[in-house]
Amino acid sequence: MSRSPVGRETERVDGRLKVTGAAEYSGDYRATGLAHAHLVTSTVARGTITRIDTAAALAAPGVLRVYAAPEPRLNLYEVTGQAAAFVENYIPLRSAEVLFHGQTVAMVVAETPEQARDAAALVTVAYDVRPPRTSLADEPHVPAGPAISGAPSSLNILAPGVGSIDAALAASAVVVEAEYHQHIQHHVAMEPHAVLAVWDGDQVKIHAGAQIPAAYALGTAQRLGVLPQDVRLITRYVGGGFGARVVLWSDTPLAAAAARELGRPVRLVLTREQMFTLTGHRSHLTQTVRLGASRDGVLNAVSHRSVAERPPTMATTMTPAHSTTDALYRTPNLHVDAQVAVLDLPGTRAMRGPNEAPGAFALETAMDELAVATGVDPVELRLRNHATTHPATGLPWSSKHLEECYRLGAERFGWSARSATPRARVDGQWLYGTGMATAIYPAHRRPAAVRVRLLGDDTAVVSTGMSDLGTGGATVVAISGADALGIPLTRVTSEIGDTLLPQGAPAVGSSATHATVPLIVNAARDAITELKRLAVSDARSPWHGSDVEDLRYERGILHGQGRSMTFGRLLATVGSPGITTRAESAGAADPGYVHHSFGAHFCEVRVNRFTGESRVTRFTTVADVGRIINARAARSQLVGGVIFGIGHALLEENHLELDTGRLANSTLADYLVPVNADVPDIDVIMLDHPDPVLTGPLGDGSDDVGTRSLGARGLGEIGTVGSAAAIGNAVFNATGVRVRDVPITPDKLVEHL
Ligand code: MOS
Repeated sequence: MSRSPVGRETERVDGRLKVTGAAEYSGDYRATGLAHAHLVTSTVARGTITRIDTAAALAAPGVLRVYAAPEPRLNLYEVTGQAAAFVENYIPLRSAEVLFHGQTVAMVVAETPEQARDAAALVTVAYDVRPPRTSLADEPHVPAGPAISGAPSSLNILAPGVGSIDAALAASAVVVEAEYHQHIQHHVAMEPHAVLAVWDGDQVKIHAGAQIPAAYALGTAQRLGVLPQDVRLITRYVGGGFGARVVLWSDTPLAAAAARELGRPVRLVLTREQMFTLTGHRSHLTQTVRLGASRDGVLNAVSHRSVAERPPTMATTMTPAHSTTDALYRTPNLHVDAQVAVLDLPGTRAMRGPNEAPGAFALETAMDELAVATGVDPVELRLRNHATTHPATGLPWSSKHLEECYRLGAERFGWSARSATPRARVDGQWLYGTGMATAIYPAHRRPAAVRVRLLGDDTAVVSTGMSDLGTGGATVVAISGADALGIPLTRVTSEIGDTLLPQGAPAVGSSATHATVPLIVNAARDAITELKRLAVSDARSPWHGSDVEDLRYERGILHGQGRSMTFGRLLATVGSPGITTRAESAGAADPGYVHHSFGAHFCEVRVNRFTGESRVTRFTTVADVGRIINARAARSQLVGGVIFGIGHALLEENHLELDTGRLANSTLADYLVPVNADVPDIDVIMLDHPDPVLTGPLGDGSDDVGTRSLGARGLGEIGTVGSAAAIGNAVFNATGVRVRDVPITPDKLVEHL
């Protein structure tokens, strides 16, 4: 008898391949006649290339080509229509104009990677330099415009009779107002961006890491000026996305165009340093939060304004603050406004809770400031302002157990032992404090398609073109298939990461699981129905001529009229090659509800009195993320999200040189991310309440085929939403110093201690 693997601790289906090095990542693939590309990037942020000297590079050993801007031989084109949202809006190497520091200005192709790299160092470039626009404070602020999701960039919801958000704030007994800053952050995925392009006639096969394979392939086709069906993208193993692989950057078009022009396969691997300017970053950001409340902390007004970068190379911008502030707390007056300043910086794009993590840092720090101002305990303050309907629309949530997150988290963490007075706990050199914050992340449905095949050897194959960024997506696919078919996980193969497969869900916005799982349930149900039809209709079947209703499917076996047979046996008996079904969804969610995941973070931080160094010593996270499909992978995702929060709060920033537009610490030696020594044991509690709406009604399990929706919601990013605020709030509790500019580096604390 097989138990469903859903919700259990399941090892990754590809774990062994990965840890033994057998899994091939994009840069690992080989091809006959392979040539290697290396990029040369600009050393100015804004200007025009007046001369590129490529003679020395061309004369270097092994060099096959040097492409230099403005380069006519690559035949690259504009991207238009839907795919335009997922590309930069300039054609790489086409123009002599430089739009940001670190832009590609030349590409060397040689016989070996080392020859390409060494020759690239010989390319010299002269510029006519113009002063770059780099100051978020000084450049004009303009409305951000609609988000990629279509959500407006501003909201102004006022109670009847209230003239303005300012009037609502003025009428509040307690007002807190503060400005929050954060610096440029990067994804720094473990796997460098790597691409291999191999042409076969008019068709090109691309190996590259991509979060939205279909959009990535479509954008590549348009850039290359070929038909969409002539681009096949393979993105089987990916070493981290974090938003950096949402956009089709310049690397894939350049490699593919060079391969076409040269008539040989080309591999291009970006250097770590190049990834800081060529694969996107999280905008630096100024946020102003104003909260108006009664003396006992009940909110009357919430205002959240933000100013972010918009580089000229991106057609759209992210809109920080949105998904959190308009959904989190009950308030009669709500104001959100997102502005941007056009700056001559590299592309900004999705990055680990792109809107929600920065937005929650500001709002959840402001809530802590309100707790201090009113003397209400931070957990109690949030319970008093708990929203039972969505503040911006009045709609109910599909599922919300946030109050349980607070209560359970407070209990597990031992919140009641806390002193509200800052600097109350000292141990030698260390000041100890605790803090908490709320987490919220939207659950969007997105288009996807899957295929389920039942085979004659009693195995099943579940196929969908999505990529697994290391999150465990391939395992979720296999688990869902095993559950829906009632067979052991070992008899299910998942097939992903290839645009030849049914179109996979985008691995963005923590949505791939809840986009994909219900389709697998549906396709499996249809496969079982097909199996029964085959059983009664094929003359070689023992059930030939009976009624479909007489058959019952259970755990891979058909039963009826006193006989039993596995599906594989039946398929073999009737000589069927297998049963194939498909399911797809346009990605619409029930418009009568809003859909979010929720969570609560609790942490303890100690701050060194003499050096100002902050160390996170304890962390408890409670997540309300629907049904858990794979407990091990889910916990790992949530732990990872909290680690992002540690980076956000204490370590991560790239310094922007205002006079040159250079991102000054674009190396992994200087851009600090949390390592094991920075990370305490992170206690993760998953509530595991299935969402009864988001992915369709939950079945009662009485049917013999997979009709129950599992009720899962995404959880990839929620761990990082609010976790930086919880840490900052703990730093305040430890020291009495409120740092509103992250990362909270020692210099910002030490002078106040
Ligand atoms: Mo994610 S930052 O939505 O790729």
